[in-house]
Amino acid sequence: MTFITFEGIDGSGKSTIARMVAEKKGYILTAEPTEGPVGMELRRATERGDGCIVEALLFTADRYNHTERIKEWLASGKGVISDRYFHSTIAYQLAELRQRAEREGEEWDGGIKNRWKEWLVEMNRPASITPDLTILIDADVETALARAGNRGQLSNFEKKELLELVRENYLELAEDGRWNFAVIDGTEGIDGVLEKVMREIERIS
Ligand code: ADP
Ligand code: TYD
Repeated sequence: MTFITFEGIDGSGKSTIARMVAEKKGYILTAEPTEGPVGMELRRATERGDGCIVEALLFTADRYNHTERIKEWLASGKGVISDRYFHSTIAYQLAELRQRAEREGEEWDGGIKNRWKEWLVEMNRPASITPDLTILIDADVETALARAGNRGQLSNFEKKELLELVRENYLELAEDGRWNFAVIDGTEGIDGVLEKVMREIERIS
């Protein structure tokens, strides 16, 4: 059965579209971070400021448990949509790792970046399955932040800087060639975005 993931920066509109698509297709809608025990610990770790490596490990552990459930749904003949999956860890935690390196005056060149990126990819391999399609709802950071309002602990300035890097990482992942991505412009109205997303989904299902 079909497994589709939705990705994008906070406020891109991906949850709205994921919900509408799941309803239209009669697919199960699920999301990360989950409400399970590791997902709850992850929220505590974020509040404590445990840092991006602990976050990467916990997001991935949460995903391992989530994937067991996704596999069961797929095996029972249901289509599944996940609002965020492993590309979130690569895009967000790689951005945080970069900010950490720059804060500590460490170098962040192509070689170092690729080592961290591949660490995240490899760690996620046993914790995930490859989606049939990943929809990246791409929006510029200003538009997304205006939609998201002031969620989370970061100031708007900190959030803007992080999300610029996250967006860059997502666009690079979409070009990587290892996964089946469709990049959709998320800056138009909901109906327009939904129509384009549905077109991509009909192509694979
Ligand atoms: P995300 O899951 O990416 O953080 P949401 O789907 O929660 O984003 O959307 C954030 C806010 O933006 C919500 O209030 C939602 O109604 C609104 N929104 C979503 N998509 C669009 C769109 N294409 N145009 C205008 N507003 C949107
Ligand atoms: P989410 O609840 O989906 O928030 P939003 O609706 O704003 O997208 O995700 C919570 C935050 O967790 C969001 O800022 C993205 C982040 N996140 C990671 O940093 N890594 C991950 O692996 C996942 C799944 C989420």
